[in-house]
Amino acid sequence: MAIFYDEEKKIFTLSTPNTTYMMAIVDEGFLGQVYYGKKVEPQDLRYLMRTNEPPYVPSKNNRDRLSFYDSFFFELPGQMVGDYRDSAVAVRTINGHTGCVFLYQSHKIIPGKPKLLGLPATFGDSNACSTLQIELLDLETKLQATLLYTAFDDVDVITKSVTFTNTSTSALYLDRAISATMHLENDSYDMITLHGSWARERHICRRTIGMGRQSTSSIRGESGHQDHPFLAVLDKDANETSGDVYGLSFVYSGNFLAQVEQNQFQTLRIMMGINPEGFCFKLEPQESFVAPEVCLVYSSQGIGGMSRTFHDLFRSHLIRSPYKDCKRPILINNWEATYFDFNTEKLLEIARLAAKCGIEMLVMDDGWFGNRYDDNRALGDWFVNETKLSGGLKHLVDQVNQLGLKFGIWFEPEMISPDSELFRAHPDWAIQIPNRPIGRARNQYVLDITRKEVRDYVYQMLYQVLTSANISYVKWDMNRQLCDIGSFALPADRQGEVFHRYVLAVYELQERLTTDFPNLLLENCSGGGARFDPGMLYYSPQIWCSDDTDAIERLVIQQGTSMVYPLSTMGAHVSVCPNHTVGRITPFQTRGYVALAGTFGYELDITKLSPDELEQIKNQVQMYHQYSDLVRMGDYYRIASYAQNKEYDCYMVVAKDKKQALVTYIQVLNQPNVHSKRIRLQGLEQHQVYEIVELGIVATGQALMYAGINMNRLWGDFQGKLLHVVAK
Ligand code: DGJ
Repeated sequence: MAIFYDEEKKIFTLSTPNTTYMMAIVDEGFLGQVYYGKKVEPQDLRYLMRTNEPPYVPSKNNRDRLSFYDSFFFELPGQMVGDYRDSAVAVRTINGHTGCVFLYQSHKIIPGKPKLLGLPATFGDSNACSTLQIELLDLETKLQATLLYTAFDDVDVITKSVTFTNTSTSALYLDRAISATMHLENDSYDMITLHGSWARERHICRRTIGMGRQSTSSIRGESGHQDHPFLAVLDKDANETSGDVYGLSFVYSGNFLAQVEQNQFQTLRIMMGINPEGFCFKLEPQESFVAPEVCLVYSSQGIGGMSRTFHDLFRSHLIRSPYKDCKRPILINNWEATYFDFNTEKLLEIARLAAKCGIEMLVMDDGWFGNRYDDNRALGDWFVNETKLSGGLKHLVDQVNQLGLKFGIWFEPEMISPDSELFRAHPDWAIQIPNRPIGRARNQYVLDITRKEVRDYVYQMLYQVLTSANISYVKWDMNRQLCDIGSFALPADRQGEVFHRYVLAVYELQERLTTDFPNLLLENCSGGGARFDPGMLYYSPQIWCSDDTDAIERLVIQQGTSMVYPLSTMGAHVSVCPNHTVGRITPFQTRGYVALAGTFGYELDITKLSPDELEQIKNQVQMYHQYSDLVRMGDYYRIASYAQNKEYDCYMVVAKDKKQALVTYIQVLNQPNVHSKRIRLQGLEQHQVYEIVELGIVATGQALMYAGINMNRLWGDFQGKLLHVVAK
């Protein structure tokens, strides 16, 4: 059992293979964090809690109770009682009073991991993990908090979530419900967050933690292009291979807050949860609110160690799709090939040539429905535009299937265009505030899927299309963020629930879809990668990484994404040059190498390629078949970052059994007369002898990792290199 309770000293010790999370109950029933870090056996470390030194616990020093509140490492910090750091919970009674402080009531340790009602979450049975459930109560408001901590046996991960229940006899308003709080002594830490914009998602940002609050957050109704529900706090000296790193990842796809607060005592309070801005959930007596899960990783092996732990966690304990362990079909998507200008014949032309090159699936993107000739109209009108698709959808799909290709289709189910039959029939179905003009983005509104009748309608439309033909794949897109938050279906004092109910509705719809169509390959997408988060991975094994398909831009985006997510989840395609987003010209080969570090596919008009490029596609198809298992299942190591050095990028994937590895090296810019770059490999077996096939080098893992290899940078060789490292 990975969870141990010392009855006498009231200490909880949660262990994973290499880490320990320790808490204790002190004094009146305060639950506080003792330690989180490298593994230590269960023992009494309560001296770390400073309860026997000033300001002491209240029973020893009640005159300075507030000093205790303001410095204790509460597992669930309450509000307005004298802890002046940010709280995890804020609750209001019907009389308008606030204030809460949570005290221990009871606990139990259970094998495995219970599900979180209506929410995505990591999973594991009794062979994989155990869970500690602690009941806390605020004695005045009678708000109960059920904390869930799961310790995994095969990955160094502790997950945390909390369910709030109103055990009083009148309604309570929950104004803040943060899922996880942890504390660190400030030994001078940095933090890493991921930031960007449309077509520039998840660029890595590392900064020094200073006094006060520093955070990353979203109030966009989705996780967003701009910020990301991930935070790492790390030693100043930590790098890819060494140093202490704490990573937090939020299994949620809506508004979030990830914050570090350094206070007057130089300690850090770190928290992650739903963004309190725009949030208020009403709890009638006996009603509960389930706050989503946070995954905590501690790595003593640097940033790379943290990333690999997240990758293993998500591959083994989050993604449910039957595709997660399978080779994904190589697809060709018509978006950058045709945009809205296509018809049956054009798609078939693409499919015919794609089939000859070994591509395995055609995906028909935006523009196949209603009056959708551009992006100004028709969202919500999910019936086939038979002027474009003459003969109908089934006719097209059958022909594509006859060519030996599977067929995939694009939807944007959460949206409604002002210019659509659906909006004309149901203007109240858009999310809106009465009498306020609704803000448009890409000329579209957001459907109020918090309403069951709206959800049912949109799902029925989807269902009809998907059962009308042999469809193997769905790309679920979402091309704007939320604003003007209001629902006609909710009373005044529940309008603060719309943001969260919206996310629950997305989850419910995707749950229905994946239950009704268990063999469907679902790829999530949001104007590129604006909803690339663990919540969505619970439903789809892959997510479109970015609308920027330029290989060099993608090096940066995919590297940032790899901070948390395995390569198997990153939608990545070879597209045409000059690139439609940045205008850059990159060798076809390079584009293939970079897309290989993802799900791999094409997004171009194959009918316009040269014979040489068509030949290259055939080679890339072979390359994909040779390496896709390794890329999907192996351990990922970042070796050199183009984002940092502005010259070259290098990463590798090592098979779990360490029998083979694949090194990708991309020379973005050369330096005149610098013949070669020394690259040190990682993750190999020290004493194993390996051959690097393409270079004819034979050496031990030790030598390749510590002494390294020279990457030759001969004139004109800008395509990059793939090196296959094989155990002899
Ligand atoms: C945004 C997606 O990221 C693109 O790939 C494409 O599907 C467009 N939407 C279609 O509108």
